[in-house]
Amino acid sequence: MTILDGKKISNDIKDEIAEEVKKMKAKGEKVPHLAAVIVGNDGASLTYVGSKVRACERVGFESTLIQLSNTTSEIELLDTIEELNNNDDIDGFIVQLPLPEQIDEQNVLLAVDPNKDVDGFHPMNFGRMALDMSTFIPATPFGILELLDRYQVETSGKHTVVIGRSHIVGRPMSILMGRKGFPGNSTVTLTHSRTKNIEEITKQADIIITALGKPEFLKADMVKNGVVVIDVGITRVPDATKQRGYRITGDVDFENVSKKASFITPVPGGVGPMTIAMLLKNTLLARERHSKK
Ligand code: GUN
Repeated sequence: MTILDGKKISNDIKDEIAEEVKKMKAKGEKVPHLAAVIVGNDGASLTYVGSKVRACERVGFESTLIQLSNTTSEIELLDTIEELNNNDDIDGFIVQLPLPEQIDEQNVLLAVDPNKDVDGFHPMNFGRMALDMSTFIPATPFGILELLDRYQVETSGKHTVVIGRSHIVGRPMSILMGRKGFPGNSTVTLTHSRTKNIEEITKQADIIITALGKPEFLKADMVKNGVVVIDVGITRVPDATKQRGYRITGDVDFENVSKKASFITPVPGGVGPMTIAMLLKNTLLARERHSKK
């Protein structure tokens, strides 16, 4: 069994990006600038956005954090997005999800300039992804592809079962794994909350990508020997023995499933760090495209 070490690979990627930034600086070029908008003060979202901003510092990017109050109206957020769209110094930006209920997420995603949409959530970029055109691939699915690539996990002709149909992970992942090329060429089954007898399907899977948010949902008796398991779950479970009062738990019963797996991602230290590395990669790409305009 091989652990797909997202922490190590993400550090390798950050080192590679830092090298690129050094070269840009040596040539007197502008370095990539990422902005992140967060609305409200949800603890998990603040942690993620903080990690994204720190990662920018580590690779030599410029970063801007815009924190808006929980009572921000949709119009106010759309104004902020318009400013970022028009600010030539910003190469790419993200609006951290989820948003408070008074704000329509679809209106927000549509307002982001597709050329600065380093999350790849705008319908134009999502459509380009589905049509194999060059685009920004959403960071978490992009990170999973990169892990499969760097560990040379065979995906061609394999049965990939995706659990969860979120717009951020499950849906794009199901499209990407079925695309022509590597990683891809899989036969994909997309399962979700209405799927019946899910264990009958997961037992047939060569590769399982689970993005459900249900701690330890995937048990050893639901998988076959040699399965590849990618765990995207990151749920905070109360734990009095931890200083923070919680621990981070994935969707997979790691202790038992890992005994049957050929490759598996840990939580934490698997997909999570890859998401941040790939956001940086998309921001570098945004800068390169922006400089050519
Ligand atoms: N919330 C959870 N994951 C993500 C992500 O990848 N991007 C944004 N913007 N919000 C998220």
